[in-house]
Amino acid sequence: MAEVVIVDSADAAGDLVAAHIAAKVAERADYTLGVATGSTPLPVYQALARQREAGVDFSRLTAFALDEYVGLDEAHPESYHSVIDREVTVPLGLDPARVHVPDGTEATVATAGDRYEAALEAHGGVDLQLLGIGSDGHVGFNEQGSSLASLTRIKTLTQRTREDNARFFDSLDQVPTHCVTQGIGTILRAGHLVLLAFGEGKADAVAKAVEGPVSASMPASCIQLHRHVTVVVDEAAASRLERSDYYRWVYDNKPAWQGL
Ligand code: GLP
Repeated sequence: MAEVVIVDSADAAGDLVAAHIAAKVAERADYTLGVATGSTPLPVYQALARQREAGVDFSRLTAFALDEYVGLDEAHPESYHSVIDREVTVPLGLDPARVHVPDGTEATVATAGDRYEAALEAHGGVDLQLLGIGSDGHVGFNEQGSSLASLTRIKTLTQRTREDNARFFDSLDQVPTHCVTQGIGTILRAGHLVLLAFGEGKADAVAKAVEGPVSASMPASCIQLHRHVTVVVDEAAASRLERSDYYRWVYDNKPAWQGL
């Protein structure tokens, strides 16, 4: 069962997850973090930046991003190369050479998935993968119907995802139609999955991911196949969970030594 932690706010979630990551980095400086884009992980990155100000050294940390748009110049402010650089690499003081993002360049995209899988394998994988969740239950850019065994590859975005992400662009037309995303099989290889969700708009997807059937129709339900998952949600995102009382009971009675 995924551990479900219900917190008061997104900032509290950020502090909780960042404290865990900082403790892991203190144990092993060459920790590997899987980073996600979207607004949801931002409180984690902000809390990690505060950990850095307090003296934690992230310079030997390696990061692998989940996904990238196809056809946006890497320098475009909304390319995930740029977003990860702005929200993660710079504020955390990461070494840019250790930050990996799939190649969304149109001319070379045909081999981008295989190259990214090879880079992940050569590195030895991801220790902790941060995940957001789309309002329809997608993870990374694994849209509904994505194979639960899928690896990094090109995907076509749904109109709903394009509309959700249009807020980052001047118009819907500018939102790319394709992406390169880690597959669900790729994501499931990480040592620990930490899925975050905030707000009422995510409540239905969270409930289905945690308590519904495992199905390619609800890509985030893949978390039920992983042995170490932490779902960190605020009250609104937790509001449709049937077993929330039990999750609170488990967390309140958790032995301190277990950590996240
Ligand atoms: C995009 C990203 C996902 C992210 C989702 C939700 O589709 N590829 O990784 O989880 O948006 O974004 P937000 O966190 O802004 O709701």
